[in-house]
Amino acid sequence: MTGRCWAVVPAAGAGARMGSATPKQYLSLAGRRVIEWSLAPLLRLDEMATIVVATSAGDPWWRDIAPGSDKLRRVDGGARRQDSVLLGLRALETVADTDDWVLVHDAARPCLPDEDLAELLSRVAADSVGGLLACPVRDTLKHASGDGRVDRTIPRDDLWQALTPQVFRYGPLRAALESAAEAGVEVTDEAAAMERAGYSPLLVPGSPVNIKITRPGDIALASAFLEGR
Ligand code: CTP
Ligand code: MG
Repeated sequence: MTGRCWAVVPAAGAGARMGSATPKQYLSLAGRRVIEWSLAPLLRLDEMATIVVATSAGDPWWRDIAPGSDKLRRVDGGARRQDSVLLGLRALETVADTDDWVLVHDAARPCLPDEDLAELLSRVAADSVGGLLACPVRDTLKHASGDGRVDRTIPRDDLWQALTPQVFRYGPLRAALESAAEAGVEVTDEAAAMERAGYSPLLVPGSPVNIKITRPGDIALASAFLEGR
């Protein structure tokens, strides 16, 4: 990737599935907070101009993070992840050009390998649309009936799990998310908003260690990945 890029880090979730008093992005992990690990690889990019972190309004935890970079800016996030990302993009309106790349990375993904980020940026640099880190599905997939029993098996060929970062150009990504918001359509990642706008995002294979902290056991898993580096 040549030229500058921007980032939006959605960090306004309450972490219902984790169920901790402190939202999961602020839990301690291998000597730092989860979000500090998530921000670190983005802060190491030379071409990174500004990282907008969308936190909940009145978030009392963010001020204790201060990873000490003038590249960080905080804005209030929204009710859903897609709202938080859109609010982050709007905050870049006066500085980002429509063709600039914007990287969106979950605050709850602390194990992003630098090599995966570099690979994503180099693959996307030559692409007109942009893309995302993703993992081919490895296990057999079962569809459950309401009573906790299998009602069918879903073929896993051609199925990928979407990770972050996801990287698209500022103008098209902003337009795609604005359009989904106006239409009242739920999109659970940036790629889904872009797909809805008619684009086919590039799948860039990434490491399965890039987990999203979701349930209580995930802190121990992430800790093992980070300490094993
Ligand atoms: N996120 C956000 N704004 C929201 C909801 C989520 O910025 N309104 C962020 C989370 O903070 C997280 C990322 O989006 O960094 C991925 O979301 P998810 O893993 O679903 O986190 P939560 O929504 O916090 O967790 P849960 O769904 O279990 O409540
Ligand atoms: Mg959520």
